[in-house]
Amino acid sequence: MSIFDDPGLFGRLWAADYDAGANPDPGPAVDFLAGLAEGGPVLELAIGTGRVALPLAERGLVVEGIEASKEMVARMRAKPGGAQIPVAIGDMADVPVTGPFRLVYLVFNTLFNLVDAHRQADCFRNVARVLAPGGAFVVEAFVPDPADFDRDEQVQVRAVTEDSATIRLHRYDRAAQRFIRQTITFDSQGVHVKPFAMRYCWPDQMDEMAGQAGLRLTERYADWHRRPFDTDSKDHISVYRPM
Ligand SMILES: C[S@@+](CC[C@H](N)C(=O)[O-])C[C@H]1O[C@@H](n2cnc3c(N)ncnc32)[C@H](O)[C@@H]1O
Repeated sequence: MSIFDDPGLFGRLWAADYDAGANPDPGPAVDFLAGLAEGGPVLELAIGTGRVALPLAERGLVVEGIEASKEMVARMRAKPGGAQIPVAIGDMADVPVTGPFRLVYLVFNTLFNLVDAHRQADCFRNVARVLAPGGAFVVEAFVPDPADFDRDEQVQVRAVTEDSATIRLHRYDRAAQRFIRQTITFDSQGVHVKPFAMRYCWPDQMDEMAGQAGLRLTERYADWHRRPFDTDSKDHISVYRPM
């Protein structure tokens, strides 16, 4: 048992600062998802603080969520409209809701927060169970680039100010397709560490998991603006539908 098997870890460490971070503008994702929702209902896996779900619900769609962290959901509840979105507190791999949903989505690389291949496969299987006939499952994820983790490690400088410095150190396990990251802040109070892990996979591996769950890839783009996906793409937006 590792700390990364606890799906609540992320929220306990990050909820307080999550919305202050440099998170992407949800606008393009919301336009894309609203276009596929066909009136809903819609389910977001790992809904977090509602970055995408709240503006999507503002379009008049019925949106529900699943989220492992009560701390993240409390942040959403405090925002306008956040109290109206039903959220099942639980593990997205189990998809503890019944549906059916016209659209299910999992954005911002969060599939990779499931740190085991078999839990990612469970997630696809359980999404297939709650998708309406003809419905869509949309996944946004980065394309792993081994050049980023030369010698199985990576160092990133995140912030340097007059009062503090924050770096990220990564250790990669290529066989398991997993990395552990420590985000380390040095300030006058001392040294603060925040552990995090991901099990990354390549788009074709994701398609295979989807296929085993009875879902097939129908569209893939490099970004939410539907730019074509190609071998240089750093990210992908993939749309899966029941076979
Ligand atoms: C990077 S945040 C993304 C939040 C939101 N989807 C967004 O785009 O802003 C990752 C979220 O996944 C949640 N999470 C991580 N593992 C989870 C799991 N196994 N089941 C449900 N939620 C999980 C975390 O608590 C956190 O809210």
